[in-house]
Amino acid sequence: MRKYRDVAPEGDVPETRTTGLDPDFWYPFARSRDLKPGKTLAVKFAGTEIVLVRPDNGGAPYALEDRCAHRQVPLSMGVVKGEQLQCGYHCWAYDRSGACVSIPYLDRGRTLPNGVRGYGCREAYGFVFVFPGNQELADVTPVPELPTFGDRRYKTRVLDRDIACHYSFMHENLMDMNHQFLHRSLMGRIRAKLLDVREGEDWLEADYSFSRTEGKQSLGERLIIGSGNDDKYADLMTIRTGYPYQTLRYWTDGKREEPPALDLWNAYVPTDRAQHHNHTYGLIMIQKPPIPGVIHLLWPVITLFTEGIFGQDRVIVEAEQRAYETQGADLNNEVFPIIQSLKALLARRGVPIPPADC
Ligand code: FES
Ligand SMILES: [Fe+2]
Repeated sequence: MRKYRDVAPEGDVPETRTTGLDPDFWYPFARSRDLKPGKTLAVKFAGTEIVLVRPDNGGAPYALEDRCAHRQVPLSMGVVKGEQLQCGYHCWAYDRSGACVSIPYLDRGRTLPNGVRGYGCREAYGFVFVFPGNQELADVTPVPELPTFGDRRYKTRVLDRDIACHYSFMHENLMDMNHQFLHRSLMGRIRAKLLDVREGEDWLEADYSFSRTEGKQSLGERLIIGSGNDDKYADLMTIRTGYPYQTLRYWTDGKREEPPALDLWNAYVPTDRAQHHNHTYGLIMIQKPPIPGVIHLLWPVITLFTEGIFGQDRVIVEAEQRAYETQGADLNNEVFPIIQSLKALLARRGVPIPPADC
């Protein structure tokens, strides 16, 4: 482990915005409940079109290149028959590996043509995960472990939305807790204090504590995190970019050995080729109050509050992306060393985005 002060780059890291996300990881591409038995879903990773398929019997889904090997039309327009996917045009049929297994009008004995690319596909935490990169790495790359998910002490809220910005703006937004000013209408005025930063080759984490300087805590915030930040700097928040994912944990009383009051996991999946858009999937695990069932009564308030916060974040990161596109360059003047380090990490661990004309 290195001290971040030794590795924080001098000044800013503009190439972050033109760096693509490494495809050699498991990414969520849909909520399991949205991929119905006998149906397909068209999704994208950085411009690569992928079809998700759920067999008729509701069994394990699979993922293929979303184009028919015959005339290149999307297989997502096809028909699921048993385990197979039939193209909607001339009914070429594909199995879950992407092999073409039948062409109804082809003479017997003729060799079937090559099929399409298949992608590793797994289901976990209520999401359909796909491995969009080098398939030889799929089996040796773990799906992220989220021990709090499914823990009966927590209730989980799912984030699932398209956001018009490069994934790096998402990481920087969450990591930089100096942006509490943005949330002043929902949270009052809060001052963040940076306690510690730790950094490795492909991860970076920061500890913060908070103090309310003006206004009152809203009910939604209190229900999620308790009244920690009313006591000056008694709480503890750890935000981590563990490439390519991001997590946030919050301990109301600052005791890391206790289960956190809030445990958030996010993945920002680029959809278009230039990676100016991402689909954010997240899981917010919120510890239930001790009285059974009360969490369900409080849930609408919690939902309203988290939607409000994420809505404000969305407006601002999309504005950052628009500025980047209008200016044609990353002119940011980043003064917070952690964010410089984070930008460097994302640039270092990412991959080139291919030029538009190749
Ligand atoms: S285009 Fe798909 S079967 Fe012909
Ligand atoms: Fe925010």
